[in-house]
Amino acid sequence: MYHFIPTHASYIGVLEKRRSTRPAAAPAGSVYEDIEAQAASHRGCFTFPHGHVLMWGDNPQVSARPLYTMLPEIEKRVGKVKAKWMMYVRNLTLFPNVQIAENASMQLRIIRPLAVDRTEMVTYCVAPKGEPAEARTRRLRQYEDFFNATGFATPDDTSAYEACQRGDDARSLDWQQGYARGLTAVKAGGNAEAEELGIRPVTSVAGNYRIGDESIFQGNYRAWLKLLKAGVAKSMGAG
Ligand SMILES: [Fe+2]
Repeated sequence: MYHFIPTHASYIGVLEKRRSTRPAAAPAGSVYEDIEAQAASHRGCFTFPHGHVLMWGDNPQVSARPLYTMLPEIEKRVGKVKAKWMMYVRNLTLFPNVQIAENASMQLRIIRPLAVDRTEMVTYCVAPKGEPAEARTRRLRQYEDFFNATGFATPDDTSAYEACQRGDDARSLDWQQGYARGLTAVKAGGNAEAEELGIRPVTSVAGNYRIGDESIFQGNYRAWLKLLKAGVAKSMGAG
């Protein structure tokens, strides 16, 4: 979660510029536009069995959501709690290779390893059926703005993925970033948010905007380790 500010510094610059020139009455173009409100947000993550993980953040710029105009109708259909969570920023990883990322817009990602040094990631803009035309337009513009190959944010992430791939080529490592931050905040089982949703995660984390948690990866690593061990045991048995 904490990659947003350092990785997307140029996008944040664009948002700041837009915000300062936008008429006060005009609706925000992005959930990230109000940086102060974002800094006051509450966020966290869950890990689940089989390596699935979710990170979430309550959404101060809720009026920028394409679904926002449908909120009363959605509340009637799914109840207030689920409707509230549908307005949150959420990034769900279905281990090992599917992601549903809902932040600036909603995106489905399919990640496919092609070779040891080559990975394909296909992305789709996802939208509810029957969405009003105005909301659909807003969603598509947000998708183009943030996620598209020509967007302001995703190219930063793609560049980071390529750098990670180069790093994974390293012959030896003295240290590795990406697994320890936030571990002291991890709670076994559920928390207040899990209870609200009626789910039973393996671990939960919740905190303020600066929580800087990366314990979410532990959920992926546990499943990965289990698969590697099972693979080794199988090949030993076969050999
Ligand atoms: Fe990113």
